[in-house]
Amino acid sequence: MLKSIAVLTSGGDSPGMNAATRAVVRTALFEGVEVWGVYNGYRGLLDEDMFKMESRDVADIIQRGGTFLGTARCKRFMTEEGRQIAFENMKKRGIEGLCVIGGDGSLRGAQKFSKETGIPIVGLPGTIDNDVWGSDYTIGCDTAANTIIDALNKLRDTASSHSRIAVVEVMGRHCGWLAMQAGIAGGAEAILIPEVEYNLDDVCDGLIKSYNAGRRYSLVVVAEGVGSGIEIGNYIAEKTNMETRVSVLGHIQRGGAPSVRDRLKASQLGERAALALINGQSDVVFGFYQGRVAAIDLTDAVTKKKEFDQEYIKLSKLLL
Ligand code: ADP
Ligand code: F6P
Repeated sequence: MLKSIAVLTSGGDSPGMNAATRAVVRTALFEGVEVWGVYNGYRGLLDEDMFKMESRDVADIIQRGGTFLGTARCKRFMTEEGRQIAFENMKKRGIEGLCVIGGDGSLRGAQKFSKETGIPIVGLPGTIDNDVWGSDYTIGCDTAANTIIDALNKLRDTASSHSRIAVVEVMGRHCGWLAMQAGIAGGAEAILIPEVEYNLDDVCDGLIKSYNAGRRYSLVVVAEGVGSGIEIGNYIAEKTNMETRVSVLGHIQRGGAPSVRDRLKASQLGERAALALINGQSDVVFGFYQGRVAAIDLTDAVTKKKEFDQEYIKLSKLLL
């Protein structure tokens, strides 16, 4: 059993990271294990920016978006030399294991770190993108999808008042999950995602057809992974000859108080991660599979590509 562990958040922040950190810390302390909080992701390991945590350090954070530990994208950790320094800094403090909460890049870094140094590492998928293999869920994706829905509802009001096409670019990096969820739940007329081939002329024809059939406005959701929403919006405006406005939702999708679902799931995952790490497990990511907490091999999580759920693709076509 380990006696001292550390926790960090890395890469793009996501709502629920705080809930996950809180669960890791409180579970470890409950088990009588020392916990170090590392500021600003891997950078904090390199800069020795970490502190021994007490239970009250994670009080009043479950309701907050972002990550109170801070996060960063750290180039130095991409090198073996950098990772070795990070390891020495942990060893110096008697830290025997690490919990990494972050997206696929952070987990890839974690996998290298553990392989090279032998330090036990447990990962939690923390990203709004929901793109980590083996898990149906990543911490923050639910809040982000709800933020998009809120924006779509508002855009629908103004688009319908003006009889316009509203094109909305949403985040997700290379993954269309956010666009698909929000597009279906927001009643969009077209959803463009990188996982499904599309023909923009056909999309425009569809919009014209529905306008001719009496529809006065349309919502088009574009995942950032397919390209620029602005360019796509310009093309649609020209081709359909209809008034079109583009909104790029941007980083607003990353913030905000986490949803109930994100708080609960992040708490469950944090508890499991801490227990696993303390009990000597390593190279595992905890996520959800078919509604239950699932242990995923870390190498699989960072090397395999998540398949897009075909049911959603079918549904989106059916409901347009
Ligand atoms: P995310 O975790 O949100 O996908 P990034 O891809 O930017 O975000 O990764 C966050 C950090 O994780 C990087 O800045 C770097 O420190 C570390 N990292 C990412 N990929 C690797 C890699 N291949 N090797 C080592 N470290 C990595
Ligand atoms: O991975 C989360 C994410 O928000 C992606 O959806 C987006 O492509 C990227 O991060 C934006 O990164 P940055 O915070 O560096 O602008």
